[in-house]
Amino acid sequence: ALERTFSIIKPDATARNLTGAINAVIEKAGLRIVAQKRIRMTREQAETFYAVHKDRPFFGELVEFMTSGPVVVQVLEGENAIAKYREVMGATNPADAAEGTIRKLFAKSIGENSVHGSDSPEAAAVEIAQFFSGNEIVG
Ligand code: CMP
Repeated sequence: ALERTFSIIKPDATARNLTGAINAVIEKAGLRIVAQKRIRMTREQAETFYAVHKDRPFFGELVEFMTSGPVVVQVLEGENAIAKYREVMGATNPADAAEGTIRKLFAKSIGENSVHGSDSPEAAAVEIAQFFSGNEIVG
């Protein structure tokens, strides 16, 4: 089915000027960038976004990192966009990521792993709604 997923290009990637290189991998995979903006996340935004991880030992570090510099939030559209983007990103830990994936190409570590992508249709809807209003998404 035609789906939308939510993507974040994380601070480790924006710091290294990799927004365009990552977008090229996304577009080459057949996903369309139907909304995109560069923002500095507030602590409140990061804590809300990662609320499901609030009891994990790395939560504090995760919020610190995600607010440490600019991020690019995006909506990606395509056939099976959610699963497809997870394939394109590669495993959370770049050491486990397959050749050609964004994390294999660019990620520094399990924390500084360059990109986020929604893991389910329910998560995608919640995550998109946190950062974009309907008229900012142009399919
Ligand atoms: P993301 O897909 O954005 O969702 C949760 C994030 O937590 C994940 O990517 C990682 O960047 C981060 N994360 C997961 N495990 C660890 C860990 N062990 N240490 C630090 N960060 C982690």
